[in-house]
Amino acid sequence: MIPDSFIQELKASCDIEDVVSAYVKLTRKGKNLVGLCPFHSEKTGSFFVYPQTQSFYCFGCGAGGDTITFLRRIENLEYVEAVKLLAQKAGIPVPEDSMDNSGARLKARTLEINRETARFYHQCLISEPGKDAYRYLIERGRTPKIIRRFGLGYAPDDWNSLVDHLKGKGFREEEMVASGICARSKNGGLYDRFRGRVIFPIIDLRGNVVAFGGRAMGDRGPKYLNSSDTPVFKKSKNLFALNFAKASKAPNLILAEGYMDVIAIHQAGFDNAVATLGTSLTEEQARIIAQYTDTIIIAYDSDNAGQAATKRAINIFSEVGVKVNVLTIPDAKDPDEYLKKFGPERFQLLLEGCTNALEFEITKLRKKYDTETADGKVGFLKDFARLMADIRNPLEREVYLTRTAEELGVSPAAITAQITSIQQGRKRVQAKKEKNDTSIYIGDIAAGRKDLDRRRNLKYAVAEERIIEILIKNPDYVPYFLQNMKPEDFVTEINREIAVLLCERIQTHRSVEPMALSGELSGEAMDRLSAILASETIQRAERSQLDEYMAILKEHNNAKSEQDIAKMDPDEFKHYVDSLTAKKK
Ligand code: UTP
Ligand code: MN
Repeated sequence: MIPDSFIQELKASCDIEDVVSAYVKLTRKGKNLVGLCPFHSEKTGSFFVYPQTQSFYCFGCGAGGDTITFLRRIENLEYVEAVKLLAQKAGIPVPEDSMDNSGARLKARTLEINRETARFYHQCLISEPGKDAYRYLIERGRTPKIIRRFGLGYAPDDWNSLVDHLKGKGFREEEMVASGICARSKNGGLYDRFRGRVIFPIIDLRGNVVAFGGRAMGDRGPKYLNSSDTPVFKKSKNLFALNFAKASKAPNLILAEGYMDVIAIHQAGFDNAVATLGTSLTEEQARIIAQYTDTIIIAYDSDNAGQAATKRAINIFSEVGVKVNVLTIPDAKDPDEYLKKFGPERFQLLLEGCTNALEFEITKLRKKYDTETADGKVGFLKDFARLMADIRNPLEREVYLTRTAEELGVSPAAITAQITSIQQGRKRVQAKKEKNDTSIYIGDIAAGRKDLDRRRNLKYAVAEERIIEILIKNPDYVPYFLQNMKPEDFVTEINREIAVLLCERIQTHRSVEPMALSGELSGEAMDRLSAILASETIQRAERSQLDEYMAILKEHNNAKSEQDIAKMDPDEFKHYVDSLTAKKK
């Protein structure tokens, strides 16, 4: 545990504005600051920093919190690590004994193990045990230079080379298991997970080796084996070779399907290629990509699987606002093979002329229907109009529309009519949705987007949030509040978590600054709390307002149906009866 007093001291010496500015370009807006949110992709800034409360909140994605939360999110750190980093930024020494956080220690050890493992595997590759593997790579066209640059390795084909090596370096068995490169067998001994494989180290943006991919040399086992998630690695949040690509001068990134493709592309002189790690693209990865480029070139395999994956990726990228260009690779199964057959110059031409996502979709549609027949034509045009209705830029729409109308020999006006009718239908649905939403202010929409609990109990959730706001602004109301209610009675889960912690801390005379709470609240609760504070609904918090909101919540408790009561266990039932008698008083 880190003492509160230290957090207070840290807080006094760090300004959230300085900390955030290192990552986000902020402009002043009244007493607050605004910028483009680093946690989701956007074109206009909805990310606010509030110097007065030393907090931040994004009205777009609902991320919020204090300086520590910010550092945790942006650097992907544990609480204690973020405190350390902040202290380091502020030049304040951290009380050492409070830092024996086992989570942070295990992470550090895992990184050490990974680094040592990468070194060991690379050494194996370039010496006797890796002779065949090295020859294999050279035969596949890799150069000694690129092998070194990517730190490729070879895992010897036996059960314990790595285990023995790491033991010799003083690592403990539990640490080795936690790092995911060794596993424990039924009889309790450790064995190497990667055996007889070419190794691809995965390196994060800070240069840490975080995981490995391994390709089989023969046809034993799966072709590729990837590290599972560990304390320092999440497959869904990492991209292979982004450590190199982030520094590229190229205007965009290339997304390929596999390790070998990425390495081949880099070797050919394009240092902006990345790949996912044995899974299909996730939204998190798309968001990471959005931080580096606004256009991605998808260069997946040309087989059916690759094309289906392309389609999925297009959808994900459109959700995070990244434009997509699709590279069609003629006469080769993937970029690696294409480069081998035709060389970098031809690949460059492909990149320059690559069709965009829309063209890709249209070509697909053309293949789906036989547009020589009347039925086929109608089917195609319906789908085509739906596709066009999504395009915001009228000029761009015009181009495709005219061209397609011409190709099919139909009048452009007929297609335009279809598009208009689709768009009007969508507008009606949207208007209806917005009408239903008017009782929720924008912060709530963001913070509550994924929170069904809150939506279902909106009336109570809003009352709870106002109570939380009042109590933070007037901690001296807490005893009065507790005489009348229990924070455990809050209806929605996240607000309950906040209220319980809040009351507990106020009763024990501890700080309720957002900064002090971020270590103890869940991420969701921290987001919610920031939304509450950012909304500043309550100007002067008076006891009468507190009474009003408490009355709303009590109404909920009284409204418990007989069915609910029947389902209660004895403890709950007693609690319920007690609450009723308390109310009568
Ligand atoms: P591919 O089978 O297309 O591999 O799978 P590749 O990169 O072209 O491999 P080479 O050229 O034959 O060596 C593409 C990606 O899918 C994942 C890997 O990340 C691979 O790079 N994959 C594939 C697995 O995770 N496991 C498998 O068994 C196969
Ligand atoms: Mn492939």
